Amino acid sequence: MSKEITLSVIKADIGGWVGHSRIHPDLIERAKEVLAEGQKRGDILDFHVTAAGDDLQLIMTHTQGDDSPKVHQLAWNAFEEATQVAKALKLYGAGQDLLSDAFSDNVRGMGPGVAEMTFVERKSEPVIIFMADKTAAGAWNLPLYRMFADPFNTAGLVISPSMHKGFRFEVQDVKEHKAITFDCPEEMYDLLVFIGAPARYAVKRVFSRNTGEIAAVSSTERLSLIAGRYVGKDDPVLIVRCQSQFPAVGEVLEPFAFPHIVEGWMRGSHHGPLMPVALHEANPSRFDGPPRVVALGFQIADGRLVGPVDMFDDPSFDEARRLANQAADYLRRHGPFEPHRLPMEEMEYTTMPEVMKRLGDRWTPIE
Ligand code: 13P
Ligand code: 13P
Ligand code: MG
Ligand code: MG
Repeated sequence: MSKEITLSVIKADIGGWVGHSRIHPDLIERAKEVLAEGQKRGDILDFHVTAAGDDLQLIMTHTQGDDSPKVHQLAWNAFEEATQVAKALKLYGAGQDLLSDAFSDNVRGMGPGVAEMTFVERKSEPVIIFMADKTAAGAWNLPLYRMFADPFNTAGLVISPSMHKGFRFEVQDVKEHKAITFDCPEEMYDLLVFIGAPARYAVKRVFSRNTGEIAAVSSTERLSLIAGRYVGKDDPVLIVRCQSQFPAVGEVLEPFAFPHIVEGWMRGSHHGPLMPVALHEANPSRFDGPPRVVALGFQIADGRLVGPVDMFDDPSFDEARRLANQAADYLRRHGPFEPHRLPMEEMEYTTMPEVMKRLGDRWTPIE
C-alpha cells in the first residue's frame, strides 16, 4: 500500500495589524523560521505560511497522522514565537487565540482552529484550502452542501460515474459535542434540517461514497464556547480534495460565486456576506469586514505543497464581490437591529448578560 500523508492546517489570530484587519509580515516570517526548523528535524515534510485577514495560517504536510503531538507542538511553538513578535510591535490582541499558557499534546480546545486529513496521495492530488476571516465555524455548511450534494452546483454528481453514488456528511453539534452522519442524496432533507442552523451544527467532514475516501474537512472549533466569553471569531478553515472521485476544482469554487450571509463581522456579532477575495484583498476594513474567504490551491506531490495558486484572483468572482458589497450596504443600514445584529441567543458572550443583570430591578410586571 502506498504511504499515507497528512495535510494539517492550523490557524490562530495572534495579533492584528492595524486593529483586526491583517497580519504583520514579521509574524509570517517568524512562523516560517519555526516551521523550517521543524522541517529540518523531520517533523514535517513541507509547509506554507500565509494569512487570511488577521489570522495566521500554518499549512503543513507530514506522515504522522491527524492529531500528532509533534506537529501540534510545532504549530503551537510557531504561534508562541510569533506572539512574541506581535507583543513587541504591540499589535492588536497579541496572543488573542492562545487560550492556555501551557501546551499539552494537542492544540484542540486551546484556541487555534484545526483542519486535518490523512490520505493516500492519488496520481494527481489537487487540493483547495479555504480560509475565512470575520466569521464563525459553520460558514462552510452552505458551500459544502452545494459542492457535494447539489447537482445544480456540481455537474459531476449527475454525469461523473465516480461521483454518482454521492457523499457522506459528518455533522457536529458544536454545543452538545456529538456527531452524526448523513448519506446524500437519500438523506439530504434530514441533513438540511441541521446544517441550515450553522451556529449550532457544522459539517466536519465529507467522504466519497464511491471509494470511502475523505473529501473535505473543516475546523469546527467555536472560540466563544471554549473560552466562555467573546475572544474573537473562529475564522474557520476548510480543506477540499478535488477532481476524479471528488468535485472538479471549478465545482468546488462555484458555491462562492454567491456571497451567502454568515455570522461574524464587527465584534463577531453581526450577519454579513462572505466575500470571496484574492489574498491581497483579504484585509477586512469596512466595519471590520465584510467577512472574507480566500482559496489557495495546491497540487501535492510526495508530500510537497506545489503552490499556492490564488483561486479567487479571477475576474469571474467580481460580480460576487459586488453583490457582497451591495448586501453589506443593505445590512449595515440596520445598524444595531437584527437581523444585522445577531439574535439574542448568539449575543450571550457579549454585553447582554451584564446589561440584563444591571437593569434587572428596573423591569416591572405588566398588569
Ligand atoms: P475529472 O473527472 O478527471 O476530475 O475531470 C473533470 C474535469 O476536470 C472537468 O472540469
Ligand atoms: P477577529 O476574530 O478576526 O479577531 O475579529 C474580531 C472582531 O471583533 C472584529 O471586529
Ligand atoms: Mg483579531
Ligand atoms: Mg480574524
